[in-house]
Amino acid sequence: MRGKFRFYGTKSEGETVPMGGVSSNKQGGDSVAWLSALKQQGSRARRAPRGARIDLYRLVRNSCAALQAVTGAGVEVQVTAPEDLGRVKGHPSQLRQVLMSLALNAAQAMDGQGTLRIYLTNQDPESGPDTGELRAPDAPTDHVLLEVADHGRGMDPDAVARAFEPGFTTKAGGNGLGLFLVRDVVRRHGGVVHTESAPGAGTTVLVYLPRAG
Ligand SMILES: Nc1ncnc2c1ncn2[C@@H]1O[C@H](COP(=O)(O)OP(=O)(O)OP(=O)(O)O)[C@@H](O)[C@H]1O
Ligand SMILES: [Mg+2]
Repeated sequence: MRGKFRFYGTKSEGETVPMGGVSSNKQGGDSVAWLSALKQQGSRARRAPRGARIDLYRLVRNSCAALQAVTGAGVEVQVTAPEDLGRVKGHPSQLRQVLMSLALNAAQAMDGQGTLRIYLTNQDPESGPDTGELRAPDAPTDHVLLEVADHGRGMDPDAVARAFEPGFTTKAGGNGLGLFLVRDVVRRHGGVVHTESAPGAGTTVLVYLPRAG
C-alpha cells in the first residue's frame, strides 16, 4: 500500500483497506481513447443496459490501482458507501470510465494534490436522500448516487453551464470530451448527472443511476 489511497466505509465505518500495488497504467483517464472505444463498440454501447447488476462500491474498489494511476500519488482517494448500497444495471466498463474521467478532472483541478472523495448513497423515496448537504434540487429517488468531490479550483457559472458541451475545455491540451462522454454514458444508463461548483470552493459531480429492480 502506498498510504495515500484509502477506502473508508462500507462494511464498518472508518475501515481502511490496503490497496496493493499501484499500476503505472494510465488507461481510463484519456477521453479520446474512451471515445474511440465507444465508437468501436458501436450500437452495442448504445443499447439500453441489461444483464449485469453492478455493485458500484465493488467497482470502485476493483478500480483502485487504475484510479490511483489516473489521479497521481499526491491525491488521496476516500470512498464511503453504506452497507446496503443498491445495485445498478449496466455496463461495468463504461461506468468505470465515468469514474476515471471524473477522477482525472478532480485531480487536475487540485493540481495533483489533495483529497478526492467518492460518496455512494441510496436515494430512497421513503427515507429521503441520505447523502450529505451536496444534493441536486431535483434529486431522483430509487437511484444510487455517485458523488465525486474535489476541493480544487472550481468553476465559474459560465463553466458550470458549459462543462458538458463537447469541446469545452479550459485546459491547455484539453479535448473537452470527458464530461460530454460521462453524460452520454450516464444517460444511456437512464441516469442524470449534475455539477455543483464555485470558484475556489471545489467541485462535486453527482451521478444518479437507477437502481436495478
Ligand atoms: N472537477 C473539476 N473542477 C474544475 N473544473 C472542472 C472539473 N471538471 C471539469 N471541469 C471544467 O470543465 C471542462 C470540461 O471538462 P471535460 O472533462 O469535459 O474536458 P477536459 O478535462 O478539459 O478535457 P478531456 O477530459 O477531454 O481531457 C474542463 O476543461 C474544466 O474547465
Ligand atoms: Mg476531463
